[in-house]
Amino acid sequence: MATTRVYVFCYLPGSLEAVPAGLFDHDERPGVGSFAYGRQYLERPNALPADCVALPLGVEAAPVTTNGGLYGVFRDATPDYWGRLVIAAGLRSPPESLTEMDYLMHTHATRVGNLDFRASLDAPEPSLAPPEFQDIEALLETAEGLEQGRSVDERVRVLLERGSSLGGARPKCTLARDGELWLAKFPSHQDWISVPRLEFATMQLATRCGLKTPEARLESVGGRDVYLVRRFDREAVPGGWARRGYLSALSLAEWDERDRDRWSYRTVADRIRRHAVHPGRDLRELFRRIAFNILVRNTDDHPRNHGFLLEPGGVSLSPLFDVEPARVRSGVGTDYFLAMSVGEEGRVASLANLCSAAPTFNLSRAEAEDLTRQMQECVASTWRDALEQAGFDKCDMAILAPSFGAQVL
Ligand SMILES: Nc1ncnc2c1ncn2[C@@H]1O[C@H](COP(=O)(O)OP(=O)(O)O)[C@@H](O)[C@H]1O
Ligand SMILES: [Mg+2]
Repeated sequence: MATTRVYVFCYLPGSLEAVPAGLFDHDERPGVGSFAYGRQYLERPNALPADCVALPLGVEAAPVTTNGGLYGVFRDATPDYWGRLVIAAGLRSPPESLTEMDYLMHTHATRVGNLDFRASLDAPEPSLAPPEFQDIEALLETAEGLEQGRSVDERVRVLLERGSSLGGARPKCTLARDGELWLAKFPSHQDWISVPRLEFATMQLATRCGLKTPEARLESVGGRDVYLVRRFDREAVPGGWARRGYLSALSLAEWDERDRDRWSYRTVADRIRRHAVHPGRDLRELFRRIAFNILVRNTDDHPRNHGFLLEPGGVSLSPLFDVEPARVRSGVGTDYFLAMSVGEEGRVASLANLCSAAPTFNLSRAEAEDLTRQMQECVASTWRDALEQAGFDKCDMAILAPSFGAQVL
């Protein structure tokens, strides 16, 4: 059985240089990983756990067999469909022929969170050197080429790969602009409408309804829409960007990504109660996000689309991301399902089902009904304005109206 040994480094708060945190040994078959912190790391007064759920400091970690033998925080730091496609193109291999560890070791400094994975203890500090905003048009064209299986300029592909270590399936690239790090989400040839514009409009709507959102912009690049959102796990400091640790809800709940039947907001809420620095605040915000998702028909609310930032005493819910309405065809089906079960009616995407789970979110029934009513009023009175301000025309508005529960404009 071949074991791969990886030196896990951590960028502690405010620091631009990572320190060794521990050793990760991984067996590809059957997919088992084990991790142990280094003694020197544990002696640091400012040491943070790499993953406060699966890898608390000072406790011997159990081996992991979920997600191909990767602890949640390592899986979160590994790309999904999009980043894998870009890496595989560089290696001239089909994406499915590469292993989890191939992908983990090919991630770049733009990966989410505060960890780094090195083949040796004395491997040099990798440079962040993200792509720059001025190259966005070339990056967009290269992303398009890769998505459509065309051959692309290898120099730009290398640049794109440096910015493509985040998860998710949509074409995207992290880049630097005006001293800040941004995630640029590109259009895809499979889109039913301008998805970057829709994501921007939905985020504006969420902001107006009082949800915690990151700074976002919409750019036109060579006539195509690109959605730009500030990286909430990076902060500009002199000489670079300091990093914050990150855990998805999938990792917080220690689920396997193929375990869809087990996914439930109740478990996420229990983990928030146990690990969050401000559990009451985060539970209320999560409840309001679910209400918002129901109202804008966002049914892609799976546990990797909910994130948490690591804090010295635990976790806190990250700003909102990856929210946009699903396509709804007027008159075709009226049942919608969330990606995780929430209340007495399981995954049914209704405010009544959400309110049936009020105690899960530390709310009384009356408080839950009040919060959903407020959210409903805000979405109903603001969605048209948010879409118009994002530049959607009458024709698009007619296509989008059913997603907001409206039939006629
Ligand atoms: N503003 C952000 N700052 C830092 N990380 C982010 C931000 N938005 C998303 N992410 C991370 O990047 C991943 C992919 O982004 P997402 O918007 O979900 O893309 P996709 O639409 O392809 O699923 C998320 O799962 C999350 O880990
Ligand atoms: Mg996503």
